[in-house]
Amino acid sequence: MSKLALFGGEKAVKKSLKEISFDFVPEKGIKKAEELMRAGEISLSPLVYEFEEKFGRYIGRKHALCVTSGTTSIQSALFAVGVGAGDEVIVPSFTFWATVGPVVACNAVPVFADCDVETHNITAEAIEKCITPRTKAIIAVHVWGTPCDLDPIVALAKKHNLKLIEDCSHAHGATYNGKKVGTFGDVGCFSMQGSKLLMAGEGGILVTDNREYYERSLALGHYERLSSLPEDSEYRKYSLTGFGFKHRIHPVAAAIADANLQTLDEYNEIRTKNAKYFEELMSDLDFITFQKVPEKAERVYGYHYGTYHKEKFGGLSLYTLLKALTEEGVTCGPCGYGMLHKAPLYTEKKNSPMHAFSCPCYDKEYDLPETLPNSEFLREAGIYLAPRFESATKEDIEQYSIAYHKVAENLAALLAYEEENNLGEKKVDSAGRSITTFKD
Ligand SMILES: Cc1ncc(COP(=O)(O)O)c(C=O)c1O
Repeated sequence: MSKLALFGGEKAVKKSLKEISFDFVPEKGIKKAEELMRAGEISLSPLVYEFEEKFGRYIGRKHALCVTSGTTSIQSALFAVGVGAGDEVIVPSFTFWATVGPVVACNAVPVFADCDVETHNITAEAIEKCITPRTKAIIAVHVWGTPCDLDPIVALAKKHNLKLIEDCSHAHGATYNGKKVGTFGDVGCFSMQGSKLLMAGEGGILVTDNREYYERSLALGHYERLSSLPEDSEYRKYSLTGFGFKHRIHPVAAAIADANLQTLDEYNEIRTKNAKYFEELMSDLDFITFQKVPEKAERVYGYHYGTYHKEKFGGLSLYTLLKALTEEGVTCGPCGYGMLHKAPLYTEKKNSPMHAFSCPCYDKEYDLPETLPNSEFLREAGIYLAPRFESATKEDIEQYSIAYHKVAENLAALLAYEEENNLGEKKVDSAGRSITTFKD
């Protein structure tokens, strides 16, 4: 039995995170960014429109529109489909805040649905329980890169005449029934922030087949593009003012995303092959399970999250587990999602710059679910298991698995260590972000 690094043994994982990751900005992106800067295209550039065309084609939708962030892509989508004061929007609690915050920014109220404990995603069943006469839309998030089970969600939205927005921020290139995610809802939204599969640094992009939705998104944040809309567009006349927001992406960010789009499929393939190898190596450890993928879906590996079944591992706390793994050189952490329904923005119903909760159009008491058991369970038991294996060799991946197996072999010593140091109840700090790496 090899000695844990925590107790002075050798680290299992030899390489740093950077050494097993692809470059954030490929050489082509750096060159293009430099060209844009030298040409003075630092606010407006045709490159943005060219990138939109390419991304729209890549996903398989007629229109694509770049915005400043994934957050503003969701705000634009909500506005596009007509969500406004007094409306309810069904959302998961098990997601990053930015799936939900824009609902309040539209003066509407979020209704939180629970997620499935195996897929980590919202389900048609959970959504159905939340439908009221005020429901206007649903936001489905493909959490960590695993598509939601979309057929029943799409059917439910149709049946109740609800708009469906997909938050594909973790899932660039994932498919369901052979079609890319982002093509199932009325609007598909993607973050291109610096930790995403398609990164711009900061930026977002939305896709839709619906001309009206596209034009409304333009009208919300892109006054400068409204005068080039067709003569018969209802939104041309707003070119002097837009609708009060500015969502224009930085062309340098679009250039970075454009360069990254060229390798997205190839890199997704590498990430998937490596992730599957890691999952295979870990399959004998019953205290860790991986996210379940719906039958019709092909996931991508935005993030490697799983579930820690403490009861199958002597009750060892997540804190001690993560500490031991981190000492082995594993990049890992707790799960930051699952508690939005308990967040002060929604429980206090005040201090928001908007008035969604006190809006006369919303003439009922805003109710939050007392508990969402699956989301709350995953908040405690969810675990960020490993970074994306990108430029990792087979040996690098094996070292990650060795670290987990070393920890498994040394359970008795870890339990004793936990008791001696009173770590059983110690909470792991987690800030609700998509990645929170463990810090002691
Ligand atoms: C699920 C999800 N939705 C939306 C966003 C918001 O994207 P951005 O940070 O680009 O505003 C993120 C970002 O991490 C996310 O993880």
